[in-house]
Formats: sequence, structure tokens, C-alpha cells
Amino acid sequence: MGGVVVPKLTEYRKTVDCAPDKSVSVRAVIFNGYATGSATVKNISRCADVMSAAQCMRELGASVRFDGDSAHITGAAFRGAKLNCGNSATTARLLIGLLSGLNGVFELDGDTSLRARPMRRVTDPLREMGAEITDTDGQLPIKIIGAPLKGGEFDLTVPSAQVKSALLLAGINASGTVRVTEKAKTRDHTEIMLREMNGRISSDGNTVTVAPSVIYARDMTVVGDASAAVYLVCLALGIKGGACTVKNVGLNPTRTAVFDVLRASGANIKTDNVRGGAEPCGDITAEYGGLRPITVSADVAPLVIDEIPALCALACAIDGVSEFAGVGELRVKETDRIKTTVAALKSLGADISATADKITVRGGKRLLFGEVDTRGDHRIAMAASVAGAIGAGAYIADGECVAVSYPDFFKEVIGV
Ligand code: S3P
Repeated sequence: MGGVVVPKLTEYRKTVDCAPDKSVSVRAVIFNGYATGSATVKNISRCADVMSAAQCMRELGASVRFDGDSAHITGAAFRGAKLNCGNSATTARLLIGLLSGLNGVFELDGDTSLRARPMRRVTDPLREMGAEITDTDGQLPIKIIGAPLKGGEFDLTVPSAQVKSALLLAGINASGTVRVTEKAKTRDHTEIMLREMNGRISSDGNTVTVAPSVIYARDMTVVGDASAAVYLVCLALGIKGGACTVKNVGLNPTRTAVFDVLRASGANIKTDNVRGGAEPCGDITAEYGGLRPITVSADVAPLVIDEIPALCALACAIDGVSEFAGVGELRVKETDRIKTTVAALKSLGADISATADKITVRGGKRLLFGEVDTRGDHRIAMAASVAGAIGAGAYIADGECVAVSYPDFFKEVIGV
């Protein structure tokens, strides 16, 4: 794909089926690949991160076969393996937890971006449980020599669903109970899916407890990705007269805070056709009009962390000062997303600045056409495309990186 020209859009009217959820799809592949039995996962994402997870599971001995928008997965007793997690931190961190208590020697690596991401947040508590892990200055490559694990109690200092998930997965193979407490509840797809697969897991407020469990493969249908729906919603809200309906969006409350943030700044966003289920879903409709500056406070930031670049892009179109506080975790994502968001939007003429953990956008300024260097970060490419489409267009130099989470982004969201 290479570079992509995003035109200025003067009209925006879209009704689309939401792209399948990446977080849920990665978990569906890993958990079913480890579980006893076989399962079909429908509406699975074919994004690059899911492909990385699937390839890791195959190296471990599982069978993962994609067929249209389904995957047929048969679990296996894992053998030692060398695993390439690509760009996917979810794959790396969840597998480190899962593999630490199994028999075998496992080596995990990833691309340049993943090699720069912090792993001590996962390896330190796992070592307390008895894991034998050798890392490279707290990063990948990592070598695990499977060892018997004991249970433990952990108060997470970093708000991270990946860390929580790694510990819970270690817990299903430990000799005792694992209890994880978070300050604010992060996405709980792991808890929900493990419970559906016979995991002995319970939640009480922000504390999750897992007892040693045998998990069984289970047929499932992946819901749409709220984080992907947000790009459409931001375009509908930012383009005069715009409107969109995104169908089948996952409405797990740990993922929908972004819609509340937008509603609090005056956005007209409705939820219809809500269907319950382990992961609820429904249709989201958004209409242009009446937006005030966006405020994200430090306590809400962990719940909207993946959506901050898109919110900053929309904020460029809103008169007044939008503030995003407590977003320091962005510095350890696929790129330093505080730096890359600021740089990307500045290259389109935005008035945006940042401190160590806060971004400020002074919106309402006329944007200019510009070339965006996304540093290979999918969410920066998509957020900059939103700013360009609302503003004066943009050239996204390495547009293909959207494949990490949303391969059809340009066709479906921008229409190019
Ligand atoms: C994810 C958790 C979040 C999120 C990432 C996906 C997951 O990361 O940013 O895109 O699937 O568990 P952290 O756990 O590092 O916050």
C-alpha cells in the first residue's frame, strides 16, 4: 500500500458493520489454541496482530485455520518453541503469563517496536510466582524455562489489562489462587472469556481471582471493536452535517468510556439494538453538532488510552482548549504516542503541545495539507487520517501500518 492520500471530506454519511475486535480476537486464538478441544471463532479479525498470535499458537503445536471470517482452532499440549509476536504486545504479554507455568523452553521476540516495550511489569510479578524468565534489559527477547508456579496476590501499579491477563493466565496453571487488584478496572475480556471456557474465575469490584483451572475450547463470535468505531464517530462529529451508524460495536463497559467522554463534550451519540451476551454489542449512531472542547481526566485516561490520538484529532476541529491528562502510558505503546500524536498533528498545522503525561490541543485553527510520518504506528496513521479528512487532507506516508488492527480502515472509514 505504501503512502495513502487522505482527501478533505466535506460530507460524511456512513453505515458500516464494525471491524471485529482485536483484543477479543487475539484472546480467542490464544485461549482456544491452549484449551482442550476444538472451536470455531466467527467474525474474527484478520488484522496483523491476530495473525501474529495465530502463528505463535501454531509454533506451539495448536492448529489455527482461517476460513473467510472464521477461524477453526484445535488446542494442543504445547511444545517448546521460538515465537515471533510481531507488533503485538497483547500476544507477547499474555503468552509470557500462560507459558511460564508450562513444561518446555519458550523464546519470545517481536519487531523493533515490540522489542522496545516494557516487560518487567509482567515478568516481575511472574517471578514472584516462581517463573524462570531471562529478559533483555526488561524487554524482548525473552526466554522462559517453564517452572511450577505458586499463587499470589498482586496490586497493580500500572493500569494494564495485558499485565492483569498475564497473571490470570499464569494462575490457571499455578498450584494456588492468583488475586489481582487494579486501581481502575481495565478491559476484562480475559476474565469473560476464561469464565466462558470453564475457568474458575471471579470478580469483585476491581479484584479478580482465579483458581487452577482446565479450560475447554468454545465456539464464539467476536463483537465489533469500539476502538475502531471511534474513527468513524470522530469523522461524523467533526465534518459539518456528518452522521454515521456503526453496527455491532462491542459495548463491554470497560471499552465504552470514550463515548461517554464525547457525550460529556456535547456529542450526539446514541446506542441502539443492544444485544446482551458475555460481550454485549449494539449499534452506535453519531451526528454532527454542538461539540465543546474535550476533557479527559487522569482517572478516566486508562479507560480511553487507545482512543486518545483520535480524540486529539477531533479536538483540532473544536473551538477552545481540549485537555488530556494522565496519559503517560501512551509513552510505552507501539510508539511514544504522546510524541507521535503531537508530531503527526503538528505536521497538519494543529496547535498541540504536551508535557510528560498531558496533551493540550488548542482547536479551531485551520489545518493544512501535510505529510504525516506515523512511525509505523497504526493508531497514529488512523488518527492523522481523521484530522486530515476533517481538515485539509493528508498524505499518510506509511499507511499500510493500519493493518496491525484495522486492515480495511482506508476503504471503510475514509472511502479511498
Ligand atoms: C490491550 C490492553 C491495552 C491496550 C491494548 C490492548 C489488551 O494495553 O492499550 O491496545 O488487549 O489487553 P495495556 O494493557 O498495556 O494498557
